[in-house]
Amino acid sequence: MKKLRQEAQEKALLETFQQKIDREEKIEPKDWMPEAYRQNLIRQISQHAHSEVIGEQPEGNWITRAPSLRRKAVLLAKVQDEAGHGLYLYSSAETLGISRAEMIEALQTGKAKYASIFNYPTQTWGDIGAIGWLVDGAAICNQVSLQRTSYGPYSRAMIRICKEESFHQRQGYQIMLALANGSEAQRQMAQDSLNRFYWPSLMMFGPHDAESAHSARSMQWKIKRETNDSLRQKFIDQTVQQIEFLGLEHPDKAIKWNDERGHYDSGEIDWEEFYNVINGNGHCNRQRIQHHVNAHEEGAWVRDAQNAHAEKVKQRQQHAVA
Ligand SMILES: [Fe+2]
Ligand SMILES: [Fe+2]
Repeated sequence: MKKLRQEAQEKALLETFQQKIDREEKIEPKDWMPEAYRQNLIRQISQHAHSEVIGEQPEGNWITRAPSLRRKAVLLAKVQDEAGHGLYLYSSAETLGISRAEMIEALQTGKAKYASIFNYPTQTWGDIGAIGWLVDGAAICNQVSLQRTSYGPYSRAMIRICKEESFHQRQGYQIMLALANGSEAQRQMAQDSLNRFYWPSLMMFGPHDAESAHSARSMQWKIKRETNDSLRQKFIDQTVQQIEFLGLEHPDKAIKWNDERGHYDSGEIDWEEFYNVINGNGHCNRQRIQHHVNAHEEGAWVRDAQNAHAEKVKQRQQHAVA
């Protein structure tokens, strides 16, 4: 009897929840939400936070080698922004009842994923251009649509992040422009970086909708607002002209305008490579996690000092009250 009553209650709550989402109202931390919604968001937001933080490594790798002081200052600011994005996102995930320490542990033990693109090495300065232009560019397509996600804290973090991402994309494209208009060797460097980063950027949108494990329900709950394939198409379409403007060759030989669809048709992604990298066999998977673990351990004394200070302040206050 009690169980039946509970089930009826749950059903009513679920209905109210879905109606709220259908009316485009945001779900806030203290609102009732289905457990699967909470878990889905924790997975998505923490994965997003980890990507921002791990993404600092391939670019940080070039801060000391940037070709001029100006480039160095710009790259430094960009990498700092990514650290900030990680922080907003960890905070936003914490409102769902998971701690930062738990999320970090999931990352370091391989339980949580991050964007596979960051497991590719940055071999040349051109790669920094290609990453800003293509990787941040692909991230923007995804993040602009996430500004309208149904969970309030996530949506608000996205609005802030998007403002900075468009700066990132332009700084990358500007590096590519300088290289593409430079010497023959520089032009080749730009082409090579484009060739290596184009396909992994397309993979950032995830598997095809039909194969995506989380897509359908995430759409119904408006955690995701557009499907992987439609976001990927948007990115493919916008990139064609950008490649033309650089005067570089398109890495996809099958790219062709389709009048009927009003979109570009394109070649198939190498999904074997995609799953291979996701499953830990990319060039840098182990190195990225090991570096994170080392940095985390080296920073332990800072966290200890902060906690000790907070404890001291608390005791002093208690003393003053007593
Ligand atoms: Fe970012
Ligand atoms: Fe970025």
